[in-house]
Amino acid sequence: METEHVQPDNIIHSRGAVLSGDCCFVGVSLAATAAFSCLFVYISIMPGNSFGQLFRITTAGVSHGPGYLLIVDGCPPGIPLSEEDLLPDLRRRRPGQSQVVSQRKEEDLPEIWSGVFEGKTDGTSIGILFRNRDARSQDYNDIKDKYRPGHADFTFDAKYGFRDYRGSGRSSARETICRVAAGAIAKKILAEHGIRVVGYVKQIGSIQAHIPEPASVTLEQVEANIVRCPDASAADRMIALIDEVRRDQDSIGGVSELVATGVPPGLGEPVFDKLKADLAKALLSLPAVVGFEYGAGFGVAEARGSQNNDLFVPKPEAVKGIGTLTNRHGGMLGGISSGEPIVCRVAVKPTSSLSKPQKTVTRTGSPTEIATKGRHDPCLLPRFVPMGEAMMALVLVDHWLRWQAQCGSLAKSRTVPDISR
Ligand SMILES: Cc1cc2nc3c(=O)[nH]c(=O)nc-3n(C[C@H](O)[C@H](O)[C@H](O)COP(=O)(O)O)c2cc1C
Repeated sequence: METEHVQPDNIIHSRGAVLSGDCCFVGVSLAATAAFSCLFVYISIMPGNSFGQLFRITTAGVSHGPGYLLIVDGCPPGIPLSEEDLLPDLRRRRPGQSQVVSQRKEEDLPEIWSGVFEGKTDGTSIGILFRNRDARSQDYNDIKDKYRPGHADFTFDAKYGFRDYRGSGRSSARETICRVAAGAIAKKILAEHGIRVVGYVKQIGSIQAHIPEPASVTLEQVEANIVRCPDASAADRMIALIDEVRRDQDSIGGVSELVATGVPPGLGEPVFDKLKADLAKALLSLPAVVGFEYGAGFGVAEARGSQNNDLFVPKPEAVKGIGTLTNRHGGMLGGISSGEPIVCRVAVKPTSSLSKPQKTVTRTGSPTEIATKGRHDPCLLPRFVPMGEAMMALVLVDHWLRWQAQCGSLAKSRTVPDISR
């Protein structure tokens, strides 16, 4: 018997898990008794182009090739789905949407090739295609043999012995077009169960937004300005700062906060596949993310236990009638959701491609200078928001399905009634 999905997370074994240093691992186990005798073949493919256990996405494509391919496996049947459903988030991710992002002009229109019958998902693999329209590969000729400081050029070449210098190939953030489309599907499923994911920009450079109630931030507040910061006065200063760094041929980093509300207590696993661990991996797998924290995050280092603990209180409105007075735990305890809002933050570095000349070396190690042409985001944060939301939604829908599959009626009894219809 070939096994691909196993619910509990007590063994590191599944596709994509690191099992040995070589390119693939095959483990064979013969069960002891006749009743349970079966052959387990675990094939773990290293390249890491897939993500998720029950709700699983696979992406292919490069920034300056013909386009991108997305496969979504494990989507439940009967979810209304059309290309239009994917467009709002794809437009939020798209380059060229405002003066503070890359000016590459792509329509980013999805073509659904499979998995939808008469307007609803049919339970089979959903295939979605995106075509690249506005690649200008000649912009990258000058850096063909030079490594950009801070980018993936050197490490990709060190691993594969070549690199696709045109727009970074597989390392390009354009790959996230697939994740955002998959995330839009995940959000639809989550919404049917009263779960909502919203992200926003919390900090750019040293400008911090004041957001006292992360769980009450709305999509409309986020979309009210081009930097996606719900604090209007901070947003104006952020826009001015991005314009300033762009004029200096430079770039700037920041922090995005991601919030999931309506998550019932019970999603996650107690050991390796903790909800916090899967969220950390999901978000750190996005390009340019260098830090992850949730709840009080690194602030816990300065706290005493008596200050840090969130006290349990009766909460009649909560799914299980129990909640916490504060939410320093960021909605997760022991790797499992508590029912309080899940609040994560990620630090996103400044764009590494700069038109300002910098010192570097050629592929053969000779010192040289590099100045990148191309069209680059002077600050990655405004376009990062829908990407972060997508990865959070993908993790939550995967754990939702795992919870339903493993805990059955217990999970069903704790779900929030459908409020979205
Ligand atoms: C929304 C977004 C847009 C990006 N656009 C660019 C870009 O225009 N130029 C660039 O050099 N890097 C860009 N990046 C970042 C690179 O893809 C990333 O820094 C690079 O692949 C190296 O990976 P690492 O930073 O995760 O180590 C972007 C990242 C995000 C999230």
